Parts: sequence; structure tokens; C-alpha cells
Amino acid sequence: MTVDAVHVASGKVREIYALGEDTLALVASDRISTFDVVLATQIPDKGRVLTGLSAFWFARTREIVPNHLLEIREDGRTMVCQRLEMLPIECVVRGYLAGSGWSDYRRTGSVCGHGLPAGLEESARLPEPIFTPATKATEGHDLNIDEEEAERLCGTERFLTAKQASLALYRFASAHAEARGIILADTKFELGVDPEGTVVLADEALTPDSSRFWPADSYQPGRPQPSFDKQYVRDWCEATGWDKASPGPELPDDVVAGTRARYVEAFERLTEIPFADYLARPGVVL
Ligand SMILES: Nc1ncnc2c1ncn2[C@@H]1O[C@H](COP(=O)(O)OP(=O)(O)OP(=O)(O)O)[C@@H](O)[C@H]1O
Ligand SMILES: [Mg+2]
Repeated sequence: MTVDAVHVASGKVREIYALGEDTLALVASDRISTFDVVLATQIPDKGRVLTGLSAFWFARTREIVPNHLLEIREDGRTMVCQRLEMLPIECVVRGYLAGSGWSDYRRTGSVCGHGLPAGLEESARLPEPIFTPATKATEGHDLNIDEEEAERLCGTERFLTAKQASLALYRFASAHAEARGIILADTKFELGVDPEGTVVLADEALTPDSSRFWPADSYQPGRPQPSFDKQYVRDWCEATGWDKASPGPELPDDVVAGTRARYVEAFERLTEIPFADYLARPGVVL
């Protein structure tokens, strides 16, 4: 970090520094959170996987929507980016029924106001990807909201731009992933607005922390899917009987290694770049 960097905030995963008025450095740590609790144990290189994958997608989706990335640093975990006024919603796109989408559908037959065909199974592919925004909870879990509420929170024009960009990003990334044997079940984007009023993609994008990635070869609707994401750690934590209050359990070495392997495998399958090459020269993903 340069000497004039000012620490402005700590997220669950990232440390945020201001580099002057309009620029931020987002440094992705190796912290892992499950059920919104940061665990005591870190996953080596996880922050590098998240940064490298985000940069990979940012470099390939500029035609769809501009993004905040200015530079990635040699440490492989620092993203220098444009500082934005963030929209107050999480832009979630779902192509399959899982997680809170599946719970909402079971309870109400719809997800965030999208009526869906009756009789869909858990993990079913939806007829069309749907936009299912959520509020950014400052504490606790994000809450699903309907599109009218999201539009009210953002303003109509920003909302519509963010929605169209999110759906287009999902379509692009899910086609890319599917061709490499990975289903992008759902994903969350965060967008902001620059001083000219342009809606810009921010934060991390299309990583195992912000998405559900399923191996396509074992996909089978009617049950939960194994995944390349945090589900592996979540399952292990749940099996310990942990009450989901902070602090979370410490992870044994084999769970750390298994989790690291899943993050690295997601990186390598999606980018087709050996992770060792990224560690040697982070610019390879651009
Ligand atoms: N270009 C940007 N300008 C301003 N803020 C940004 C930008 N990109 C990302 N952010 C914010 O930086 C933070 C990233 O940190 P991190 O991912 O660790 O947070 P989190 O745990 O997901 O959420 P929280 O900040 O609520 O703890 C998020 O609050 C995100 O909204
Ligand atoms: Mg985050």
C-alpha cells in the first residue's frame, strides 16, 4: 500500500483504502464468512482467487457495462478502482432455484414477485433468468425485495440500467461457464454511480463468494447441488452443530485444503489459466 492510502472501512472479506478523492484500493483478504459470520480460520489465497476472477470478468464485460477496475496490483489481491456512490441494493440474478429463491418459491410460488410455473423442483432451471434484488442489510441477512421496492430505492432510470446490466452479465457469464462444465445457478452484483451519473459495475463479480457455481456433470434437479463455492464449508460448519453465532468454529486442515482446492478449481476452469500463472503475474487475467 502506498503511504498516502487511508483505511476507510473493513468489510467481512475486504479492507478498503482511499487513494485520494476518487480512487479506492480494495484488498481481498483470505477471510471466509458463512451465514454472515467471519470464521476464525482463513483459506490461503482465497482473496487472490476472488480478485483474479473478478478482474478476468471485468476485462471481458466492458461492452455490457462499464466497471470500476483501474488496475490490479502485483500482490494479486489488491484492486485499484474508481470510487462510486453505491446503489442501495444487491442485484441478484437467478437462473436456477436455490437458496432463498427456492425457499420463497416453496412458500409462495413466486420469487421476488416473479410468478413461476407450478411444480418446479429444488435446483430446477428457470424458464428465463430472473432479477431478484435484495436490500443491503447493514446487519444480519440481506432481505429479498420486489422490483417496485428496488426501483423506489434507486430511482427508475438507475434501477432499469442496473437490472438490464445484471441480466446481460448473467447471460454472458452463464454461457461462458456452461461451455466449461460449470452451471452459474445465481449471482449477485453491486453497482454504483460515477460523478457523471453513469451506472458502473463495482465490488467483486462472478466469484465463488458472490455466486453459486455447480459442476454441470453432476447436476440433478430435485435436490441441493454440490458446488464450487462456500457450500462445502457451510455443510461442514452445520454438521458440527454450531449455533451460527460469532465466533464461528475453527476449520480443520483438511477442510481448509478442500475449500482452497474448490476456489482454485473454479478459477482455473472459468479462466482456463493455471492459478500458478496468476500468482506469478496477476496481469494474465486481463
Ligand atoms: N467502487 C466502489 N466504490 C465504493 N464502494 C465499493 C466499490 N466497490 C465495492 N464497494 C464496497 O466495498 C465493500 C467491499 O467489502 P466486502 O466485500 O468485504 O464487504 P461485505 O462483507 O460484502 O459487505 P459489508 O461492507 O456490508 O461488510 C462493500 O461494502 C462494497 O459495497
Ligand atoms: Mg462483499
